[in-house]
Amino acid sequence: MALVRRIELVEEVIGCCGIKDGCLGMFLKDPVVVGSVMWIAILASREVKRNKPYRARRMGEDMVFWRDGDGKIMALGNYCPHRQALLSQGKVVNGLIQCPYHGFEFDGTGRVVYVPAMGRSQKPPSYLKAKSYVLYEQHGIVWMWYGPGKPEAPPRFFDDLKGLEAYAEYWETWNISFPRAVENQLDVFHLPFVHYNTIGRGNRTLINGVAVKQVDDLTFVWSAVAEKDLGQKPRLKLDIDPREAGVYLEFIYPNLWQNHISENMRVLAFFAPVDSQRTVIYIRFYVKPTGIKGIDAVLARLGMFFNVYILHQDRRVVESQNPGIIGDKLIAPDVPITIFRRMLLKDKELLNRLGIKVV
Ligand code: FES
Ligand SMILES: [Fe+2]
Repeated sequence: MALVRRIELVEEVIGCCGIKDGCLGMFLKDPVVVGSVMWIAILASREVKRNKPYRARRMGEDMVFWRDGDGKIMALGNYCPHRQALLSQGKVVNGLIQCPYHGFEFDGTGRVVYVPAMGRSQKPPSYLKAKSYVLYEQHGIVWMWYGPGKPEAPPRFFDDLKGLEAYAEYWETWNISFPRAVENQLDVFHLPFVHYNTIGRGNRTLINGVAVKQVDDLTFVWSAVAEKDLGQKPRLKLDIDPREAGVYLEFIYPNLWQNHISENMRVLAFFAPVDSQRTVIYIRFYVKPTGIKGIDAVLARLGMFFNVYILHQDRRVVESQNPGIIGDKLIAPDVPITIFRRMLLKDKELLNRLGIKVV
């Protein structure tokens, strides 16, 4: 009975997914296309310095990052194809990565261009190829292409941050799967519980909405009105464009999130999958109270303390969740999560790479 009621509620708003014997979630009726822009944000640019290899595990793979002579970021699988020493323990030499064991030098395509033991007079063997990755760097973020073939377009990014130049940045690794890390930021009704003494003060537990609008194939925005529960019935539909609400949230699939607190104050986050059990949470706090970049940057750093405090309130609960999402029973205000899941369920490449089970 409860299940039937739940689906009815959902259909009123957006329509049921209609799959499985129950309901995996509630999905928008309009189709969502995933696949043409399979970029995922994986690093902050500042992590990869010039002349120094940087080791990171992302998307279940051990990788080494470095910058070539022009500062362009490169990445290879971290195990040298010769006898599998860690390239990240080597050096950057003339824009190439040099293995610490026998000094083989590789370019960003994974090709070995110099094998010291064979001398410069001989051509290095072509079978000695390291795994390479296609990257894109902009806005201080590094994206990795995880689709088949070649990218057709650059990654999407928020187009309304242009005037906001000053920000503070912070990241940390959580012991939780990628969907859980993302969905925590899509969830609008945990605030009075998890953040009862900060952004969830006031015991406003009852949710009107959630108002959701799909902006394009990868982007949606949402907002909700929270009230104290005095026995009133919540409104399931809010006939507003979420962007007209005072504060609204925005998500670009697969892993970029923004909280529009005001024109001059935003929190941006992205969730970089390490593997099936761990995710790096990157957050940025943008503020522009004075318009003077140096002063605003200091204020952003101060504000970041508060943001990190909130993040740790989330972390305590999120790391306690079952990492698998199959058993979840969602309710109507979970709609941003169901939209994300609809996209994720279609994204077989990401599901496979991260070992995410959905059936
Ligand atoms: S293991 Fe890398 S050069 Fe031999
Ligand atoms: Fe939270």
